[in-house]
Amino acid sequence: MSLHLTIDDLKSQARRRVPTMFFDYADSGGWTESTYRANEEDFKKIKFRQRVLVDMDNRTLETTMIGEKVSMPVALAPTGSTGMQHADGEMLAAQAAEEFGVPFTLSTMAICSIEDVASVTKKPFWFQLYVMRDKDFVYNLIDRAKAANCSALVLTLDLQILAQRHKDLRNGLSAPPKMTPSNILDMAIRPRWVMGMLGTKRRTFRNIVGHAKGVTDLSSLKAWTDEQFDPSLSWKDVEWIRERWGGKLILKGILDKEDAEMATRTGADAIIVSNHGGRQLDGAPSSISVLEEIVEKVGDRIEVHMDGGIRSGQDVLKALCLGAKGTYIGRPFLYGLGADGKRGVTRALEIIRKELDMTLALCGRRDINTVGKDMLYR
Ligand SMILES: Cc1cc2nc3c(=O)[nH]c(=O)nc-3n(C[C@H](O)[C@H](O)[C@H](O)COP(=O)(O)O)c2cc1C
Repeated sequence: MSLHLTIDDLKSQARRRVPTMFFDYADSGGWTESTYRANEEDFKKIKFRQRVLVDMDNRTLETTMIGEKVSMPVALAPTGSTGMQHADGEMLAAQAAEEFGVPFTLSTMAICSIEDVASVTKKPFWFQLYVMRDKDFVYNLIDRAKAANCSALVLTLDLQILAQRHKDLRNGLSAPPKMTPSNILDMAIRPRWVMGMLGTKRRTFRNIVGHAKGVTDLSSLKAWTDEQFDPSLSWKDVEWIRERWGGKLILKGILDKEDAEMATRTGADAIIVSNHGGRQLDGAPSSISVLEEIVEKVGDRIEVHMDGGIRSGQDVLKALCLGAKGTYIGRPFLYGLGADGKRGVTRALEIIRKELDMTLALCGRRDINTVGKDMLYR
């Protein structure tokens, strides 16, 4: 086992262990991938003020996100097909997050179902909802999340239609993968992954198959998902979703301050400043570059979270300094999962925690709840 000191180390190992089709699915953005790249690059432009001779003893990273206690303000973002990075991926990642004391968000497009994840966790997790045309399916999904005791619903707003990702088309992405000669070869050199997949029954979208009308197998599933994302979703829909759900609601995919304003009027508990990890509107700004203006506009009325491009604890701290109350990681935990299953997800969280804690100290602070813009060069 190689020494993983950075998220990049986990990424390198995941690239060796996960079949190309699924590794590329994680490591890709829309069209030219310019927004995907900007998410990471724009963090690098922000600089910390180095402070000295401040008592750095007894530091704490503990805080809250939507009123829930977290050991650090870093949740696992909802990611589709996570069980293809590693067998039973969502269940393993949820367990790692639970043990670490941070929220795990299960995607509608997960491989493991709400019930699968609930069966291996003790604390409530969060559920991410995509709104489909089949409203009976959506009602049922909300009810299943309630029955599983999920403590927040994350409603994703920026995927009414699916943007084009060239790598997925070129690789012929599918779950489970098509057995073409090149895919067979690609998997044959990754026996750990293959053994894991042969050892589980969870290889399809289990929130959907057997629950949506007419979806009983993979070919009907493909036809269903192709036509099901609801392009007519509007602000009015947030109202009935909030009512049906009745619990904490987080709106994900806000990138514009006018939309942030609209979001506060829905009565949601938090927004996530996000461009879907650069996977949807290529050419949109990075999340970190618009965070500050959104916090200025609505931060006194709604909790503002962010995701996109976080690759270290330093990035987390920069987002918090600019006013985020919480952050999410997508690819960092997927790389951990692909590299080493549950242990790899824990490792990703440990790496981020250590970087966050040390950077906090070197900036002369002890409590994550006291950070602010005054810690950055402006
Ligand atoms: C492979 C992958 C699948 C994703 N699937 C979903 C999804 O099903 N639902 C959703 O709301 N966001 C999804 N996202 C977006 C993430 O929730 C999050 O916004 C993004 O990954 C954050 O950027 P980061 O990967 O740079 O941390 C996905 C992201 C990735 C990388």
